[in-house]
Amino acid sequence: MLSRRQLGIALGLGFLPPMACDADEPGAACSIVLDVESARALVVVWSATALRMTVTVATIDGRVVGRWPAEMGEAGIGTIDADGLEAATTYVAAIALDDGRVMQPHVFRTAPRDDDGRAVRLSWSADVDPDPAYDSPIFETLAAQEAELYVSLGDWPYADNPPWPDSIEGFRERHVQARGWQKLQPWLHGVSVRAMLDDHEVRNDWDAATFAAEPERHGYALQVWDEWFPRRGGTPVRYQRWRWGAHVECFLLDCRSYRDASADPDGAEKTMLGAAQRQWLVESVTRSAATFKLVFTTVPLDYGHGVDHWAGYTVERDGILDALADAATPGVLFLTADQHWFAAQRHRHGAREFQVGPLSRSPLPLPALRPGVLARSAEYCFGVLDVAAAGVRVRALGATGNVLWDETYSAAELTLRRS
Ligand SMILES: [Fe+2]
Repeated sequence: MLSRRQLGIALGLGFLPPMACDADEPGAACSIVLDVESARALVVVWSATALRMTVTVATIDGRVVGRWPAEMGEAGIGTIDADGLEAATTYVAAIALDDGRVMQPHVFRTAPRDDDGRAVRLSWSADVDPDPAYDSPIFETLAAQEAELYVSLGDWPYADNPPWPDSIEGFRERHVQARGWQKLQPWLHGVSVRAMLDDHEVRNDWDAATFAAEPERHGYALQVWDEWFPRRGGTPVRYQRWRWGAHVECFLLDCRSYRDASADPDGAEKTMLGAAQRQWLVESVTRSAATFKLVFTTVPLDYGHGVDHWAGYTVERDGILDALADAATPGVLFLTADQHWFAAQRHRHGAREFQVGPLSRSPLPLPALRPGVLARSAEYCFGVLDVAAAGVRVRALGATGNVLWDETYSAAELTLRRS
């Protein structure tokens, strides 16, 4: 973390003004850095009172790269896309609001270029509920990892906590509570985020059937999620892929927006991803030039409770795994969440999966052990990936930094093979 003086120098101010907040005020304003690439970054700010903001981005040695003004929209959210950045560089983003509030700066790191072979560190997890019942030191532990990027696999916020909102304003309030939560701020101000929604942003286990029953309410929830996690260019497509240097390409799946009802009979027609996303996934992974292809799916490939996850969509899942095995694509790793326990799992054709979460929600009872389950632990947890040419080191860490898994795999070892 940079000191206040370092931050002041970096911003060309010499010092930070006295009204600068040590942390964003819960309920008043909060901010996040999203969708960082090698040359640009989205800075997203919510304020209860401001009408306009200015974001200043500088290098840590004091060179101001630019200042971007923005209006806060109807939802109180302003977004800027800071461009012209250098790859693999640490930046400071300072946010000034026209209500006089100067928010806590963000420190973030741009992605290395696609041909840059340096080692990188990513993290991932899910499930953020500010209820004090789930208190633990996990956010301090997560911040201490100093990952360049955090991939959020959903349930942030638990917008369906009772009473389930039935208005746009009601859903917005849930995001204010979960994004502005004081405990997150030291971590969120030192990392950039890529995010996908899962179910609780809308309602528990939502699918095509629940959507059809209450389209207006589901629509409110999705509109508000899109406000709080805006995408570059406003594309309606939530699934995405991005590079993080020579050795990493990430694929973040949308396992909710296109899925058939989970209770439908499994079969050739039943889909979680929809045909377009499924084709995109297989083609993109098999053609990727990165050493490792990290496939993030908000729900696990198998071995969880019920059929809300890929266990209810086995024909589609197996078709994807078959295609990856037929292509013999090296370096494929599945990273998941949702079930509220850590698990290391092996699937069809040797596909490897690591499941983490919750960050802040109840760990759940473990179901019966199955042959593909290599290790499990029901506790607060997250994952850390250290990726270099020789391998990807996968760690799963508990709330105090206790090690649940620590193993390194070469790209050859992460090749799906038909047995
Ligand atoms: Fe959850």
